[in-house]
Amino acid sequence: MGVFSKNSVVGVIGAGAMGSGIAQVAAVAGHAVVLYDTNTAALDKAKSNLEATLRKLEEKGKIHNAPEIMSRCGFATTMDAFKDCGLVIEAVIENLDVKKKLFGAVEQLVSDDCVLATNTSSLSVTSIAAACKKAGRVMGLHFFNPAPLMALVEVIPAVQTDSALISDAKELMRQWGKVPVIAKDTPGFIVNRVARPFYGEAIRIYEEGIADIATIDWALTELGGFRMGPFTLTDYIGHDVNYVVTETVFQSFFYDPRYKPSFSQKRLMEAGWLGRKTGRGFYNYAEGVAQPEPAKDNALGERIVHRVLAMLINEAVEALHMGIASAKDLELAMTKGVNYPKGLLEWCDEWGAQKCLDILDELYHEYHEDRYRASALLRRTAASGGRFLSAK
Ligand SMILES: NC(=O)c1ccc[n+]([C@@H]2O[C@H](COP(=O)([O-])OP(=O)(O)OC[C@H]3O[C@@H](n4cnc5c(N)ncnc54)[C@H](O)[C@@H]3O)[C@@H](O)[C@H]2O)c1
Repeated sequence: MGVFSKNSVVGVIGAGAMGSGIAQVAAVAGHAVVLYDTNTAALDKAKSNLEATLRKLEEKGKIHNAPEIMSRCGFATTMDAFKDCGLVIEAVIENLDVKKKLFGAVEQLVSDDCVLATNTSSLSVTSIAAACKKAGRVMGLHFFNPAPLMALVEVIPAVQTDSALISDAKELMRQWGKVPVIAKDTPGFIVNRVARPFYGEAIRIYEEGIADIATIDWALTELGGFRMGPFTLTDYIGHDVNYVVTETVFQSFFYDPRYKPSFSQKRLMEAGWLGRKTGRGFYNYAEGVAQPEPAKDNALGERIVHRVLAMLINEAVEALHMGIASAKDLELAMTKGVNYPKGLLEWCDEWGAQKCLDILDELYHEYHEDRYRASALLRRTAASGGRFLSAK
């Protein structure tokens, strides 16, 4: 594991949803862990939740030493507790200034060889690293929610990151039972970039009146094989969270129309209709309210699946073209990070690049919008009759 070992103390900044999950993963993997938060109520809640979760895992036979794991976990309201850490992972609010200040401060307290990681979903790891004197020790380790259950971790080298640390970080993540992939430090990394059309194109189809939400959800689950339709899924994620990621990715890509947010979702957010957590989003979850029935029209359903999937495949191909990740890592990211039924490049190979290109070109000619432009790599692959993955 190079710079890391089982004896490395792991510090986690922020005891919210992600920080407490990451602390649990590190502790169960055998590390002593220090969880720090400025909010004592959050820290108390994280401590009691961790105790309860470890107890449940022990009851289920998944672990056999809950009290010992718990005894390795410290809960702190000052960062002095990080002085012996070999790795500190930050998971506080998604705000660049807050994160930069924290990294500048934590660097003063830890030893010279302590690695600093951020769990940011959308900010530039390079900007965060720039707040440190030893920027070479900073990287992104992007876990997915809930961290103990989701296998994927995007390992993101900043421009400044010491390259030797990356293979050590990957190995450490494997030791923690995770599936690490390497992603270039660009907005949304892999998953939050490539998955955008699953939401954006589905909402566009709904806004144009081509189909209602229940029909689009039905098409993508029943015909497309996705576990959840985009409207059910965004209601789960919360429109505050999902909309903000879309808007951030859109702005960070210099307003590329491929990532343009939708007014439907913005209005839901403004109305406070955030999804399941508020009882209403695209669907109404109030007791006694019947859910809308899909129009189970196979021809319409196929059209919806083709349009959304062609957009998703195009994103994956463009990410490959731009060197955001390897083909293998792109496939792992979408199957392990968002549970897609198969990797998008594999899907493209099954379809044939020409079919995907034809769907996109038809949309492009109909709408005359840059949103539907096909990746040059997709066009090249279609022309050569090539594939993205070696044949099985
Ligand atoms: N929630 C997700 O689905 C998800 C998934 C992947 C990554 N992320 C990223 O993880 C990070 C944390 O997200 P979350 O959902 O866990 O947030 P959260 O709101 O649940 O928790 C954030 C915690 O950080 C604490 N905090 C805020 N400022 C602090 C400071 N200066 N010092 C110490 N503690 C501070 C808060 O008290 C809170 O307990 C964000 O960068 C987010 O983008 C979130």
